[in-house]
Amino acid sequence: MGCVTDFFTYETTKSVVVKSWTIGIINRAVQLLIITYFVCWVFLHEKAYQIRDSSIESSVMTKVKGVGRYSDRVMDVADYVTPPQGSSVFVILTKLITTQNQIQDFCAEEKWPTDGIILYTVRVYITLTEFICLCFIPLRPILHEAENFTVFVKNSVRFPIFNFERGNLLSSLNCRYHPITHPFCPIFRLGDIVKLAGQNFTNLADNGGVIGIKIGWLCDLDKSWDLCLPSYSFTRLDGVSAKSNISPGYNFRFARYYMRPDGSEFRTLIKAYGIRVDVLVYGNAGKFNIIPTLINTVAAFTSVGVGTVLCDIILLNFLKGADQYKAKKFEEVMSIPAVDNDKLF
Ligand SMILES: *[C@@H]1O[C@H](CO)[C@@H](O)[C@H](O)[C@H]1NC(C)=O
Repeated sequence: MGCVTDFFTYETTKSVVVKSWTIGIINRAVQLLIITYFVCWVFLHEKAYQIRDSSIESSVMTKVKGVGRYSDRVMDVADYVTPPQGSSVFVILTKLITTQNQIQDFCAEEKWPTDGIILYTVRVYITLTEFICLCFIPLRPILHEAENFTVFVKNSVRFPIFNFERGNLLSSLNCRYHPITHPFCPIFRLGDIVKLAGQNFTNLADNGGVIGIKIGWLCDLDKSWDLCLPSYSFTRLDGVSAKSNISPGYNFRFARYYMRPDGSEFRTLIKAYGIRVDVLVYGNAGKFNIIPTLINTVAAFTSVGVGTVLCDIILLNFLKGADQYKAKKFEEVMSIPAVDNDKLF
C-alpha cells in the first residue's frame, strides 16, 4: 500500500532563494566560467558559428631541377627523377647499384615428384660476366649534389561546398623556401626539406627514405580571400622503417633494356636508393552560417544551467546549515481536501 501511494505522487519545482555569500559567489563564478568557455573556446577559437568544409579537392604538380655527377656520369632530371610525370609522389635517386649485361638464358632446375627425378629448364636472367655473379658489390657513393636540387610544387585546391578555389603560387617564383623569411615560396631545396624534417641528408640518401611535404589550407572565408594561405611542413613518413634493422630505408629495382647488333636483348639491373617525396595536402574552410550559430547558442544557454547542479550539491551537503536548506528545498505537501466555502467564512 505504501509503495502505491509513494508512486502516485507528483513533484514540482519550487524556487528557493538562498541569500548566502558563499553559494552566491560559487554560483556566479561557475556561470562566468561556462560563459567564458563558450565565448572564447567554442565560438572564437573553434568558430562554432561557421559551417566547415573539410572535403578539400586538390591537385599537385612537381618539378625537380638540378644537375649532379655520379660515377663519372652527369645526371640530370631525366636520369634521377622517377616517375617523370611530375606527380605528387616521386623519387630522387641518390645511390645506384647496377648489375650490367644480363641476358635471358636457360638454367637447369631439379624437381622431385613421386615418380622420380625430372630435370627441366626455366628461363631466367643471368649475368654474362662471371665476377659480377659473385655479387661483390662495392659501396657506391651517393649523389651529393642532390642536396642542392630544388623541388617546385604547384598546388591548387578547391572547397566544393563554398565553390572556393585557390593556388599556392602567390608571387614571383624567383625565391627559395625558408620557414621564416620566405614561408610561401613554393620552391624547396631538397637539403632544406630533409633538414626541416629532422633528418641527416647523407644518411637518408645512403639508405633511402620517404619525406612528406605537407601543405595545409586552414581558411576562414569570412575574412578576405587573400588571407587563405598555405602552410608548409615537413616530416619523415617512414620513421618506423628508418629504425628497423630488417629492412631499413627505401630502395627498389628496375631494369634498362638494350639490344645488340645481332638482335639479342640484354639489360642492366639497377638497385636504386632514393629520397621519395610525397606531397600531402590537407585543410578545411569555414564560413558563417545561421544553423550552427543557433544550435550552439542554445547549447551555451542550456549549459549555463549546469551550474545549478554543482551549487545544489554544495548547498545540500557541504555548506553550514545544510539540513535547514534541505528542509526548505524538499517540502512534502499532503493533498488538501476540498472544503465548503461556507465553512471557511
Ligand atoms: C650546394 O651549393 C652551394 C652554393 O652554390 C655550394 O657551395 C655547395 O658546395 C653545393 N653542395 C653540394 C653538395 O654540391
